[in-house]
Amino acid sequence: MDNTALDIRQFSFEKSGVTRLTLTDFRNYARLRLNTHTGPIVITGENGTGKTNILEAISFLSPGRGLRAAKLSDIKRFMPVLVPPHDDYAPTEILPVNWAVSATVQKGDDDIEIGTAVEKSIRESEDESRSYDKRIVKINGQKASSQAELGKYFSAIWITPQMDRLFRGGSQSRRSFLDRLVFAFDNEHAKRTANFEHLYREWYQLIKTGRMNDAWLSSLEENMSSLGVAIAAARREQIAKLNTFIEQEPDDVFPNVILQLEGKIEKLLDEKPAIEVEDFYRDMLRKQRKNILYNDTVDGINRTDFKVFYRKKRMPAELCSTGEQKSLLISIILAQTKCQTLDKGFAPVLLLDEVVAHLDEFKREALLSKIKELELQAWITSTDPYLFTSLKNEAQFFEVKSNQLIEKSI
Ligand SMILES: Nc1ncnc2c1ncn2[C@@H]1O[C@H](COP(=O)(O)OP(=O)(O)OP(=O)(O)O)[C@@H](O)[C@H]1O
Ligand SMILES: [Mg+2]
Repeated sequence: MDNTALDIRQFSFEKSGVTRLTLTDFRNYARLRLNTHTGPIVITGENGTGKTNILEAISFLSPGRGLRAAKLSDIKRFMPVLVPPHDDYAPTEILPVNWAVSATVQKGDDDIEIGTAVEKSIRESEDESRSYDKRIVKINGQKASSQAELGKYFSAIWITPQMDRLFRGGSQSRRSFLDRLVFAFDNEHAKRTANFEHLYREWYQLIKTGRMNDAWLSSLEENMSSLGVAIAAARREQIAKLNTFIEQEPDDVFPNVILQLEGKIEKLLDEKPAIEVEDFYRDMLRKQRKNILYNDTVDGINRTDFKVFYRKKRMPAELCSTGEQKSLLISIILAQTKCQTLDKGFAPVLLLDEVVAHLDEFKREALLSKIKELELQAWITSTDPYLFTSLKNEAQFFEVKSNQLIEKSI
């Protein structure tokens, strides 16, 4: 065993994870049923067989848009059909079906039935009514009032190959990543960020289209500033929590990181009480109305950047190597996992898509041994099952073939 400073096994927490998974018309799966344990699960198969799709399905048991942030309409099973007389493939033939994911989730001694699917809803406006896809959630057969309800029973944290660009790309994906870490502790954060975006879009459109109704804009600015300051405060709290936690962790294979927020509103909260920062933000938005017409830049919480540093090297993450960046990401995810487990009393499920790519053998083995130590459910995908032989006594191994998962021993 390695010298993890905080051995969370000293604390009692409930066993948790998916024990039965059923997919219906979900991407490449017409129908899939799977029984799983609450330990590590390794899914292997050739490229394009459906490994990531399984992880995406599980991510829909938690609130939000899933691990690919996909459009709901892209998920339903698509079947190209042959069109006579030349048997050409029709470009976008989608079966008239809706997708569904259902699962039994274990939490301590309880089994909870979770189901999610899409439903057609009608949006009425002054001059038309339009139908749109809406994700609905059922918990133990009852329709949940909001997706946030899921957070009581199930939580998932993921690492995907797209996140290899997290530190080098634009700040939007880092903000979304951080906001997801905050949601896990604070359900309201998801609603606040969605509301802020909605108000921001309305405010922006009003100005851009020249409808400068001062009373209307001022009321939007008032609401945006109070939501914005609450969002900034929640982000600061999360960063502080993780930094404090990480400081006590061993600075080993997955190196210690320092997390920072670079944003005007977050910084002002260091100096002034929240109520004054709200006033400042409201005035700042008002002053920036003209920026929308001239150069499209609006400063505020939608510009904040989430910065990560490799502590020992004093190096910003964006200047680290690909393998180092992966290790820094794993450090953050492991800290978040432990914090969540201690806070909620049950561990999140880890969805690790091609996580060992870019890791050398030493780091790969260190990660697998951390997964064993944490005693949680981790879904791991790869094209090569033999990279995981050290989990052969702990993990369930599945191979994906012909749109089905076949359990194998290695
Ligand atoms: N809506 C859909 N309907 C049917 N098939 C889909 C749909 N969306 C994606 N697919 C297909 O599902 C297949 C599996 O995709 P997935 O991303 O899960 O593969 P993978 O096993 O993770 O591959 P890789 O090793 O390349 O990451 C792909 O061939 C993809 O084209
Ligand atoms: Mg994949």
